[in-house]
Amino acid sequence: MKTAIYPGSFDPVTNGHLDIIHRSAEIFDHLIVAVSVNRSKRPLFTVEERIHVIEKVTKDIKNIEIVTFDGLLADYAKKRDAKVIIKGLRAVSDFEYEFQMALLNKSLNPNTETLFMATSQNYSFLSSSIVKEIGALGGDLNGLVPEPIIDEIKQKLK
Ligand code: PNS
Repeated sequence: MKTAIYPGSFDPVTNGHLDIIHRSAEIFDHLIVAVSVNRSKRPLFTVEERIHVIEKVTKDIKNIEIVTFDGLLADYAKKRDAKVIIKGLRAVSDFEYEFQMALLNKSLNPNTETLFMATSQNYSFLSSSIVKEIGALGGDLNGLVPEPIIDEIKQKLK
């Protein structure tokens, strides 16, 4: 069985993330969406809330598992016997950092490959930070995040 991990903060999940999730789930037998605890950032949503939201908007995907992980991604991939780490690339500016991370993860766990998936054009400008900024300033979040979670985001940002 080919298992892939799609890691991220997902604070909150955006339509760009969801696009990568759908496309990855089509390619692999099993997709693990791994929500990072990431102690260096002050998240808007708790890990439990982020998992709940992703579960809510991926109900239609059968081969998906939403989990949290703490510590190194390379170690978590080894623990789950996942050979592929998926990273979405929006622009060339993402590449330098992600390339470094791919080499780092490979050196920590030589059994993993990082696979870069180009984001769909519509979402190339989109990030969780942008969503939070637009939401905090009272902007329209339609089309940027899954419709069922717009109210939850607005409530959080109040
Ligand atoms: O959505 P993000 O914030 O860009 O996701 C970043 C993430 C979670 C993929 C990255 O921070 C990560 O892999 N964190 C786990 C810790 C780790 O392995 N760090 C790399 C070596 S310092």
